[in-house]
Amino acid sequence: MRFDILTVLPGLLESPFAHSILQRAQKKGIAEIHVHNLRDYSSLKHKNVDDYPYGGGSGMVMMIEPFAACIEKLKSERNYDEVIFMTPDGVTLNQGIANELSIKGNIIILCGHYKGIDQRVRDLFVTRELSIGDYVLSGGELPAAVLVDAIVRLIPGVLSDETSALSDSFQGELLDAPVYTRPADWNGHRVPDVLLSGNTPEIEKWRFEQSLERTRQRRPDLLGE
Ligand code: ADE
Repeated sequence: MRFDILTVLPGLLESPFAHSILQRAQKKGIAEIHVHNLRDYSSLKHKNVDDYPYGGGSGMVMMIEPFAACIEKLKSERNYDEVIFMTPDGVTLNQGIANELSIKGNIIILCGHYKGIDQRVRDLFVTRELSIGDYVLSGGELPAAVLVDAIVRLIPGVLSDETSALSDSFQGELLDAPVYTRPADWNGHRVPDVLLSGNTPEIEKWRFEQSLERTRQRRPDLLGE
């Protein structure tokens, strides 16, 4: 699977992709992540990528030309399944959307900044607009990193224990049960006995009950309650 991310701040995206699971997925050749600096696609003398909004108002608007030039170059090289714009007014990302995107081949992700991007980019190129939650960040880079992480860990062969993505919170509509590791007793705070019992059916039963209770307490909406 291939991601092409268009941004004015490529440096912001270096670290998130250089560690842990995302790094391993790239090393294994399962995921390719390419970050493109939109300034490289500006035809203006000072490599500007934004300008004042028509009709007035505060903030700068990102221009269509650099987006168009970069997207058209990429599309001339391969086909893309989606062009996704990260924006707080998009559809809120969830596990279902991540699952759906994890079986795609090539995805372009657009990161906006300033006051927004010229509406024509959204009208002409974007296939899907995604938000990572009801709060406003300074740009689409962190949301893009969140999206790529959520997708890549679902691609078969990325997680060493292939079942572990399947047991994640949300994957099966329930939140995860609590987890513990050594020591079994920390200053009198003990790990639940059942987890030390070695009785697998009892442990499974306990985990299911805990998942259900946690979901009831924290996210009754997931149970349709
Ligand atoms: N850009 C700024 N805020 C955002 C958000 N919450 N989700 C996606 N993109 C964004």
